[in-house]
Order: sequence, then structure tokens, then C-alpha cells
Amino acid sequence: MEPGTSILTEAARRRTFAIISHPDAGKTSLTEKFLLYAGAVQEAGSVRARTGQRSATSDWMEMEKQRGISISSTVLQFPYRDHVFNLLDTPGHRDFSEDTYRVLAAVDAVIMVLDTAKGIESQTLKLFNVCRSRNLPVLTFFNKFDRPGRDPLELLDEVEQQIGLRATPATWPVGIPGDFRGTIDRRTGEFTKYTRTARGAAAAPEEIIPAERAAAEEGDAWKVALDGCGLLDAIGADVDLPSFLAGKSTPVFVGSALTNFGVRALLDAVAELAPPPLPRVDVNDNERPLDANFAGFVFKIQANMDPNHRDRLAFARVCSGRFERGMDAECLRSGRAVGTKYATTAFGNDRETIEEAFPGDIIGLVNAGDLRIGDTIFQGKKIEFPGVPRFAPEVFASARPLDRGKIKQFRRGLEQLDEEGVVQVLRDLDFGDTEPVLAAVGVLQFEVFAHRLASEFNAPAEIVSSPYQAMRLTDKASAERLRQIGGIRILYRANDEMVALFENKYRLQRLMNDEPELRLDPVFDGQPDQ
Ligand code: G4P
Repeated sequence: MEPGTSILTEAARRRTFAIISHPDAGKTSLTEKFLLYAGAVQEAGSVRARTGQRSATSDWMEMEKQRGISISSTVLQFPYRDHVFNLLDTPGHRDFSEDTYRVLAAVDAVIMVLDTAKGIESQTLKLFNVCRSRNLPVLTFFNKFDRPGRDPLELLDEVEQQIGLRATPATWPVGIPGDFRGTIDRRTGEFTKYTRTARGAAAAPEEIIPAERAAAEEGDAWKVALDGCGLLDAIGADVDLPSFLAGKSTPVFVGSALTNFGVRALLDAVAELAPPPLPRVDVNDNERPLDANFAGFVFKIQANMDPNHRDRLAFARVCSGRFERGMDAECLRSGRAVGTKYATTAFGNDRETIEEAFPGDIIGLVNAGDLRIGDTIFQGKKIEFPGVPRFAPEVFASARPLDRGKIKQFRRGLEQLDEEGVVQVLRDLDFGDTEPVLAAVGVLQFEVFAHRLASEFNAPAEIVSSPYQAMRLTDKASAERLRQIGGIRILYRANDEMVALFENKYRLQRLMNDEPELRLDPVFDGQPDQ
């Protein structure tokens, strides 16, 4: 920190956000272009290349390489104008994992990327529902305007209908998807001309043209665009900061990540519209001032990523104060000291030591003790932030050790991987630990679980998918009744909570209607009901 700058000044510069999208909508491309425009990389494509290089060094990465996916969310920190951006990656694979959701607990805003040809897709919707549960401000980017797609007015309608956010275009396209001419900035009326760049390796030239000249050059396309703007003016669909910050409206931008168009406008919007870190509320509903002592919470654990090191990285979001490498800090749950000597940040998969961090920043603590997801870490007086929610599982499987002689290792693995949140382990008290049910948001979590059980705990296991479709929290009295019904199983989570698994979600619905006195609570109400 420069002498004289305060924690509040540093916090005000931060913008901590994630990009959510359906696979293939363009999240990776947009991330790369952000780095290009921010000057953090020289040439687009280098992030992917870097990931490729690293994948040779670990079997974990090997799994990612085989599947062509990125399992590990990483954090990119880069300066933009006079801000510091923290972009948290949400893995963009078809299979969900809880990690993706947890990342959203650590950000202050989100960019929702839609493929203009497709509009809102299933995974956008799921991710958005998590954002809604936190009232996160959402900026929307209609991507791939360089190729044929749907009418933008229709897309605005879809955003409003399907996710209930009032769509307020900040820029409006001139031309149609596939015959894209550029955008009108609705605040200034200026026309930014679209220039096709070859795959957008370098920043696109941005020619700003006065309205009169644009009218002469773009002809009918200009007229149609003005009509569109007139319509938007008439219905008052203007960017409105308070309702955006409250998670009720979404400023919309159009462009093409591939050819770089609209990327700068979106980055500017993150700087100008997205909120800086705000005081976080603790479990007692008290706001933690940003300039109080250091405090943060753990939202992700990444263990044993590299077999050469076998280390464990706990990612924490700083909520208040100044974090300094080597400082004294404590974990509220365990009451133990947290090691802060090995603090890193991640750029792609490369780690770099960080010396200090401020509210909004993400720190990776290496082998910092037995930190768990949701833990509050702090310096000085005790403080506790609300935990990171566990999400309603959608897929289930049973796990059985292949080698009965390795039952101890199997148990240890189950406990550890459950704690880390790799999967949720559900136990049947009659069977003990020998044949637990695993619950997850996506089947990829089972693969990671099996891989780690074999490679780290030397306890290879057979994972067989189970026919359950939904899980609900229940209690003893309700469980007695549920046990009399077929297709339902009562199990326990590690925290002794009782859960009921249903083979048929329609039967669950019927039961809820017919016997409303039964306790059948959703696991996390921020998700669409199953
Ligand atoms: P994701 O992370 O959301 O999964 O999407 P990603 O950026 O990987 O983009 C998916 C595909 O869509 C890529 O094509 C990418 O080049 C393309 N794409 C992204 N943005 C745009 C855009 O604005 N316009 C057009 N026309 N295409 C876009 P690919 O063929 O799968 O990969 P590649 O061979 O191009 O790398």
C-alpha cells in the first residue's frame, strides 16, 4: 500500500465479480478479452495456452485435460483504469459442481453472458437463481452479435419473462445479428462502429461517429436502431443504478467477444456501475466496517491439486481490514491460529505470493490448517460471517470400497472429502460408513471424488448412480411416516441433519400437497425447486 492510502480507498477501488453463462456462450473468450483490454496479457489466447502448459504437471490436471474442462476455479486479479478487478472464474462445464455456486457467495456482482442466437439457457437460469438469492447486481452481455441470431427486443423480453430482471439496454445494436454495424450508446447517443478483427487477437479499433454521419452511412439499419431506442425511451428502459444495485434491473450491452466488440464498454460498466465491496453482515446482523480488523471467510478449498506438493489451498474472501502475509489470524470454528505465511493469488493456474490484500480481494492460503468451507477467519475480536450454503443436490450415487481391507482409508477419505465439500456424504445409520450415498449438484463431483479417494487415500471405490431425484430436510416425526412409503430413504448428513431422498419428484410434490404437516424443507431455497 502506498503510504497515506487507506483501507477504505483500497476497498473502493475493488470490483469483485464473476461471469456466468451456459457453456459455449463465450465466457472464456470474454475473460480473455478482459485481460487483453486491461493490459494483463499481450495477446488473447495466452490464458488457454498457459493452462495447457500446466496440465502436464499434475494428474488432477490430467483429468481436466482428458475431459477438456476446467475443474478448478481460479481468481484473476488485474488493474483496470484506476481500479483493481478480481474476476472469479466459474467452471464452465456442462456438469455443475457446487464450487461454481460457492464462487457466487464471494462476489459483489455478476456478468451474465448470453449467446444472442440462444438467449437464456438452462445453466444460465440455474446460476442466475443463485445470484437472485443474494440479490447480486447483474450486468448482461448479448454476445456473438457478429453472427446470425435473435432479435434483441425479443431477448430483452426473454430476460424479463424468464428471470424477472428488468432489462435496461446501455448500448443498442445498429444492424442485426450477423449484419452488425455497431452500437449506439443510449446515454450519449454516440455511434461506435463495429470493425471486424481477425479473431480479435489485439484490441479492436473503436471509431466513434457522430449521429449525422452514422445516419448517412448506415441508412435503414440506423433508422431501425433509432426506432428501437425510441421504443426503449418510451417504456423507460433506462439504466437505473439503484434498481441494478438491488438486483432488480440489469444493464444490457451488446457485442462480440470473439471480435472484441463491446468489451471495453463492458469493462467500463464494471468500473462505473458495479459496486465496490460493501460492509458484510455477520451472523448477528451487524455490518462489519470495511476498515475494521482483518476478517474474511473461506468459500473454496482446493486440495492436492499438484501431486508434487500435496498441498491444500483455502480461498478466502477478504471482507474487512488489511490482510498481510505472515500476520496473526484465527479461525473462529476451531479457535486455532491460521497460517498466513504462504498466501497466494492465482493467475490462471499459476500461483504468485501476495503480500497484502484488501476488502474484495481473494487470498489463497496454503496449508493453513484445517480450514473448511464457510469458516470465518479474523484478527482481533471474534466475528462470524454466515456460512456458505450447501446446495440442493440433483444427482446421487452410492459408494463402496473396492478393497474391504482399505475400509479405514475409505472412511478417512469420506470424511475429508465431505468436509471439503467435494460431495455431500449421506449415511444410513443401519449400514454405518460402508455404503454411503453421495449427493452432488453435478456428476463431475463424483468423478473428482472417486479420483481423489483412489489417488490420495489409496481407497479405490465403486461409484454407482442411485435413482433418487430430490432431497429434502426432514425430522424424526416426519421420518416415521416417510419410512412407511416406498421410494423414499432416510439418511443423515455429517452434521446429523436428517434428510429424505425421493426416487420420484412428482411423488414428493404430491406428498407435500397431501400431507402438509410433514417437514420436507428444501436444502437451499436459492435454487429452483426440483
Ligand atoms: P464458454 O467459455 O462460455 O464455454 O465459451 P467460449 O468462450 O469457449 O466460446 C465458445 C465458442 O464460441 C468458441 O468457439 C468461441 O470462439 C465462440 N465465440 C465466443 N464468443 C464469440 C463471438 O462473439 N462470436 C462468435 N462468432 N463466436 C464466439 P469454438 O469453435 O468452440 O472454439 P475456438 O475454436 O473458436 O476456440
